[in-house]
Amino acid sequence: MMTTDARHSEMESGGYYNAHSRPQGSASELGIPLLERAAREVPLDGPALQIADLGSSQGKNSMLPMRAAIAAVRARSADLTIAITHTDLASNDFTALFELLQSSPLSYLSGATNVYAYAAGSSFYGRLFPADTLHLGWNSIAVHWLSAVPCAIPNHIWSPYAQGEVRDAFRARAAQDWNTFLEARSAELRNAAELVVVASSADDKGFAGAEGLMNVANEELLAMVRRRRIGADRYDAMAIPTYYRTRAEFEAPFTASSSLELLESIPQVLDDPYWPEYERTHDAQAFAASYTAFFRAFSEPCLFGEAGGPVADEFYAGVQSRIAADPAAAVCRWQLLLLRARRRPR
Ligand SMILES: C[S@@+](CC[C@H](N)C(=O)[O-])C[C@H]1O[C@@H](n2cnc3c(N)ncnc32)[C@H](O)[C@@H]1O
Repeated sequence: MMTTDARHSEMESGGYYNAHSRPQGSASELGIPLLERAAREVPLDGPALQIADLGSSQGKNSMLPMRAAIAAVRARSADLTIAITHTDLASNDFTALFELLQSSPLSYLSGATNVYAYAAGSSFYGRLFPADTLHLGWNSIAVHWLSAVPCAIPNHIWSPYAQGEVRDAFRARAAQDWNTFLEARSAELRNAAELVVVASSADDKGFAGAEGLMNVANEELLAMVRRRRIGADRYDAMAIPTYYRTRAEFEAPFTASSSLELLESIPQVLDDPYWPEYERTHDAQAFAASYTAFFRAFSEPCLFGEAGGPVADEFYAGVQSRIAADPAAAVCRWQLLLLRARRRPR
């Protein structure tokens, strides 16, 4: 089966992702208690406590978790130097991240002492840090993005709808990526250092909780093919480069002899953060606008390229109309898995 490079796994730039990523922010918040437990237990050795925020995007959703980690470390040491490195793909909008860090009241740097922020622009499916240097790793809503799309998905853009050998190809790629991710972190983490992952996951049937929204998007794309606004070949090649691992798939690499010991594995379903407001206001247009912006922030680069353009504008306008006509169809109840692991002594 042919392997297509995953391009444009990054989020919409110009700070757009930061402005339209409430669900991801809500998911991150669910992982904070695990990060606090980790920060209370990791050894405070070395000249500085090194934290990695892996797949940070533009950083807004990292501010609360990093603040929580700093507070937990500060409760143990008032003056230990803390170094936080945000990592993402080279094409990520790091400018938005550094502007936020320097000037937003949300920034964990505001009011902090002896805390330093850095960035690294390289894939987390490879080594990012020298061996034996990290104390804490944080990764939220990012490892479902694959290193590559293994093949096209017939009649859909989203892997939970892949079947047969297409599904097998996505599953195999995801298993390989997860192993690669864990092997790289295992080398980087110090003995007894910890990794917390807030994973976008799947139920036992492989559904991630956003099937309705993705069907709305797929129907709009098919309508654009029928109107000849998008060529059939172009549609056939469109795929969001993600796969949603089940709990069993996430836990598989953790064995009695693996270098990382799984300490916690907690499934959660994320309540839709936009729906309560819709129920209060019944403003279908506002609901559709919020949902479309959320969807656009993570899907435009992979579906239409970073430049977007008039066809992308038309597509997202169509998605917005469909959601406004039937808000309940777009509601997402994302399946999450909260994981916490510790590096066994070498
Ligand atoms: C949905 S965003 C989550 C961002 C942030 N952690 C949050 O909670 O809002 C997923 C991020 O993972 C990044 N990403 C995807 N594949 C990656 C890879 N192979 N290496 C590093 N980052 C990756 C994307 O660029 C994107 O910024």
